[in-house]
Amino acid sequence: MNELVERLYSTGDLADDELKQLIESDTAENLAEYADEVRQKYYGKNVFLRGLIEISSYCKNDCYYCGIRRSNKSAERYRLDYHAVMHSAKIGRKLGLRTFVLQGGEDATFSNDNYLCMLIHDLKSNFPDCAITLSLGERSYESYKRLKEAGADRYLLRHESADRELYYRLHPHGMSFENRKQCLYNLKELGYQVGAGFMVGAPYQTTENIISDIRFMQELQPQMIGIGPFIPHNDTPFRDEKGGTLELTLRLLGILRLIFPKVLLPATTALGSISPIGRTLGLQTGCNVIMPNISPEDARKKYMLYNNKLISGSETAEGISILQKEIESAGYFVAKERGDCII
Ligand code: 5AD
Repeated sequence: MNELVERLYSTGDLADDELKQLIESDTAENLAEYADEVRQKYYGKNVFLRGLIEISSYCKNDCYYCGIRRSNKSAERYRLDYHAVMHSAKIGRKLGLRTFVLQGGEDATFSNDNYLCMLIHDLKSNFPDCAITLSLGERSYESYKRLKEAGADRYLLRHESADRELYYRLHPHGMSFENRKQCLYNLKELGYQVGAGFMVGAPYQTTENIISDIRFMQELQPQMIGIGPFIPHNDTPFRDEKGGTLELTLRLLGILRLIFPKVLLPATTALGSISPIGRTLGLQTGCNVIMPNISPEDARKKYMLYNNKLISGSETAEGISILQKEIESAGYFVAKERGDCII
């Protein structure tokens, strides 16, 4: 297995059957080492922090895995107003953050772009040295264009699955597999730095499905890739399904770093939620981004995508300095730069 890792490291790719072997093996001891070497070659020991502001937990979609799905009547819904968003960003900037991520469900209130454009515009003028990332789901080409013109720099939209069959086992038929991929191509065409990704160990997911995800991303060439373990949520149809494992998530992170040497790869909140050392191990296996949540505390409690989601107080100076210590004891440091992709 170590031979496959070496070849992936030196050529940047493997055949499907070899990737399958590697994904399914538990003997690739050298993977983290090679992934870390590649990450350090391009990004040194920098870890980029992104301040996550969860602006709305309303969602018109009904994804079977997600805790803020429309049909979850026990989810408490909220939407941050203009002042709450600006206030979170102001605190975040004081703590040294250089990117704000406006994330939310597909809130019908936002279908008119005006509020979002105003937020983006005012964030950019108040914090001109910061990047604005959006993570607000599927929208029209025209809407993505207006948000870009208002000043947005990046967009996160996990493709969730590049396999049609699996996609429709995770999402109701009212959603569109084609449109999701089209959105990613539209975002790229409009000049956004784009993030794709998927959950690891989602119900029904096979190794072949994961290989399709990798092939899709090789075609798309996203600047960012977000993967994290699937974690069941009690108020969803997948409540009794098994969650994704730490081991498989780490193995995939290492593999992704070798296939996409320059990509921005977060050690996700979900990874940190299944293990206290999940994010540390992620950083040591190719990850170079962490996204602390800087939403107001009551919002953080309500934005529950899965059980036991980490909600510790990273909006405080203390929270960020705990995170900084975590990063430093893993052998890295918090970058001062905005952290754009070098692709
Ligand atoms: N477990 C892990 N990740 C989840 N997401 C949504 N629900 C869950 C869950 N139960 C992920 C999806 C989505 C992102 C915002 O969070 O991949 O794109």
